Amino acid sequence: MMQPRFILSSLGLSLMIATLSAHAAGLSSEHSAFGTTADGTAIDKYTLSNSHGVHASIITYGGVLQSLIVPDKNGKADDVVLGFDDVAGYQKNGTVYFGATIGRFGNRIAGGTFKLDGKSYQIPLNDGPNSLHGGSQGFDKRVWKAEPSKEKDWVGVTLTYVSADGEMGFPGKLETHVTYSLNEKNELRIKYSATTDKPTVLNLTNHSYFNLAGAGNGDILKQVATLHASHYTPVNATLIPTGEIAPVVGTPMDFLKPTAFGKNIKAVHPQLKFAEAKQGGYDFNWVLDTKGNVGKLAADVRDPESGRHLQLFTTEPGVQLYTGNFLDGTVVGKAGKVYPHWGAFTLETQHYPDAPNQPKFLSTRLDPGKVYTQTTVFKFL
Ligand code: GLA
Repeated sequence: MMQPRFILSSLGLSLMIATLSAHAAGLSSEHSAFGTTADGTAIDKYTLSNSHGVHASIITYGGVLQSLIVPDKNGKADDVVLGFDDVAGYQKNGTVYFGATIGRFGNRIAGGTFKLDGKSYQIPLNDGPNSLHGGSQGFDKRVWKAEPSKEKDWVGVTLTYVSADGEMGFPGKLETHVTYSLNEKNELRIKYSATTDKPTVLNLTNHSYFNLAGAGNGDILKQVATLHASHYTPVNATLIPTGEIAPVVGTPMDFLKPTAFGKNIKAVHPQLKFAEAKQGGYDFNWVLDTKGNVGKLAADVRDPESGRHLQLFTTEPGVQLYTGNFLDGTVVGKAGKVYPHWGAFTLETQHYPDAPNQPKFLSTRLDPGKVYTQTTVFKFL
């Protein structure tokens, strides 16, 4: 009887040590069930945590960042991203893209069509006359495979999705990996990679809606943004770039110095009305002065009240700042909270919208044998 008991207790001890050393590193990851889709597919949730009270939850439906808990200046924790408590919420509200991984093509393609090597391709139109975020069944509506990722100083999860040749009209079988990772510096990093077996186009991004006061706690008009972007890409009435790369100076698009989102959002300016016909709003691509240097600060948003402070770093040349203009108080999110008009902002790091049809924009083409990569970091100070 003595021996088995001894074995048991030493096993217990070594388990405890394993837990303690994980705590010493400060980082941990947890994995649980998040329900099922309407057709019965099981969806998993991975929660990444650090010792400063930051918890990021990612679900395998849509590669969605479902929740992001960040303490405020007094240490009070709140969830700073909009989302839903169950899979049905995401499936029923397919057009808001809360927290989703966007692909194959972030933002709009004019007429949903483009030419590649002389051949025309057609993507389903799901935004008036254009295609948006990869067509009606984009990456945000797919179920991803997930596996914990291992890297020194980071805890993470890697999502994988293989998109068949011709899916949503895009050429080439495309294999995409998205790794969400968290470290002790409060950096949530999203790394993407993709390969194709035929020439194709792609533009991957994440569509998290942030409210630094906490999701569902009013609008973001008093939150103060800095965008290190001296130019933006003006759009037409259907939000397709005109092809021009215009200076922000002298327009409501100037966020070169810290400026509250609400300062000029209602200004009389045709671009703001294209984004939201009644009251105005932001929904444009800014041309980042960081030019793909992920070591340089691309954007910064602070909430004076909660003291939460978000910094953005990215390898991408552009960022779509969207101020939740289409939220109208009818979407009920996590914990029954209602998300009001201008109730969040997105920072969708990307190549410029409609790039496949815009000869002056950086190319979004991917060829077989090449690897697409993009890295974006959301850092909380
Ligand atoms: C993007 C678009 C917006 C809107 C949102 C989702 O940010 O640019 O116009 O469609 O997605 O509602």
